[in-house]
Amino acid sequence: MDILFAAVPEKEVRTDALIIPLFEDFFPDLYMELDNSVGGLIRKTLNSGEFKGRHMQATLLHVLAIKAERILLIGLGKQSEISPERLRQAGGKTLSLLRDVGLRHIALSAGPLNSLSLDYHVSQKPLFYFIEGGLLGLYRFERFKSKEDIQELVSLTILDDGESFPLNWLQVTTSATLFARDLVNTPANEKTPTRLSVIAGSLSGDNMEVRVLDETDLEKEAMGSFLSVSRGSEEPPKFILIHYKGAEGAPLVLIGKAITFDSGGISIKPAEGMEKMKYDMAGGASVIATLKAVAELGMALHIIGIVPATENLPSGSASKPGDVVTSVTGKTIEIISTDAEGRLVLADAIGYALKYYDVTAIIDIATLTGACSVAFGSEVIAMMGNNKDLMGKLKKASTETYERVWEMPLFDEYKEYLGSDVADIKNTGGKRGSLMSSGYFLKEFVGDTPWVHLDIAGTAWLEKAKPYIPKGATGVGVRLILNFLKEL
Ligand code: BES
Ligand code: ZN
Ligand code: ZN
Repeated sequence: MDILFAAVPEKEVRTDALIIPLFEDFFPDLYMELDNSVGGLIRKTLNSGEFKGRHMQATLLHVLAIKAERILLIGLGKQSEISPERLRQAGGKTLSLLRDVGLRHIALSAGPLNSLSLDYHVSQKPLFYFIEGGLLGLYRFERFKSKEDIQELVSLTILDDGESFPLNWLQVTTSATLFARDLVNTPANEKTPTRLSVIAGSLSGDNMEVRVLDETDLEKEAMGSFLSVSRGSEEPPKFILIHYKGAEGAPLVLIGKAITFDSGGISIKPAEGMEKMKYDMAGGASVIATLKAVAELGMALHIIGIVPATENLPSGSASKPGDVVTSVTGKTIEIISTDAEGRLVLADAIGYALKYYDVTAIIDIATLTGACSVAFGSEVIAMMGNNKDLMGKLKKASTETYERVWEMPLFDEYKEYLGSDVADIKNTGGKRGSLMSSGYFLKEFVGDTPWVHLDIAGTAWLEKAKPYIPKGATGVGVRLILNFLKEL
């Protein structure tokens, strides 16, 4: 969809539908003239009580006497209750509604949005969040649906001069989020580690080099922890390295868990709901998508994305509970549960990063524990780490994007949960406190390097749609990390 700016009066715009955002508690003077042109239809609708301007309430009116075919009244609720998130929700509702009606060219009256002052510590103007929600809300995953006549919006004209509007930032960050959603929604048979590495490889270009380590390389590197996960699968593992050099200096490392299917391995998961475990690569998807956006934006940063990709399957060659493996750092790990595979692949990714790069900081993002979604549902990313400054910056970015993070403690007592009788550490600390013990496991491999772990097990997938996130993959983490990087 094209996004255009045109500073023309509402009644002059030729469009299939003119979007008029309205508050519940006041009707702005600026629409008096427009309303007069359509014979008082807007006030008539308001007076009827059918449309009150409640948050996300929508009414589509066919109109005569102006150049627009229709007017869509979209409620923003009470002015005092407006927030960036509510604007995203209203935008999401609006654009998908008009698309679903079958319209092609739409226009947005920006007046009420521009006159709003947001009482939040955010960096963009209200108009930005409305359109951001709109773009994110249009997402559908239809790659495997036989094509019917799919309607798409062709253009959105914003009635504003567009001066200082960060259109490129908006388009790059939202389309990267949708790219991540596509990867995550894709079934596991269509996104094997090999396919994922090819997709990542296609990001190669100016400042961007993608390198993929295969099984032989991984053996040479002695990445026994990662390899212990891939052993059960016929699909070869791929260790994807995405190197973006937009600046000199030591790199920031982003690591994303990419289990393209997590059956649990020999510690197999229950059959019910197992199909969803294609989303166990959501961390990896967000790292790939983030780097794609970083390159498109040409950010002046030095970043290395690491995406260890493998399936986790049971077979005669699979790892077994009780097996001991050696990670690239030399630390030995007793595998208690083959279903706690995420930390095994992350441990080697962290070890590899520390071995080969002069790392300034590591952020890992992973669908690591069921305990995360038990604790937080779909609302919160569990954040753990060893560096307050980094966590503070991520927290700030999360206020901007509403991908909310919540810090969980990594108290030293959690170390005892991971004590093994036979190896340096074991890969599970039991059910109790497993959100923290999984984080503590990673901490043991990170050492003193500034590091943050983001557990997105609850937020990467929705069972029930939200106004601008359809059911399924959310693309969580992409906007969060991009906003974090923007402030560096
Ligand atoms: N991929 C799962 C975590 C997960 C569960 C993500 C549900 C999304 C939704 C992870 O590999 C796993 O199975 N973790 C186990 C660890 C346990 C065996 C210590 C878990 O959390 O149950
Ligand atoms: Zn698992
Ligand atoms: Zn997993």
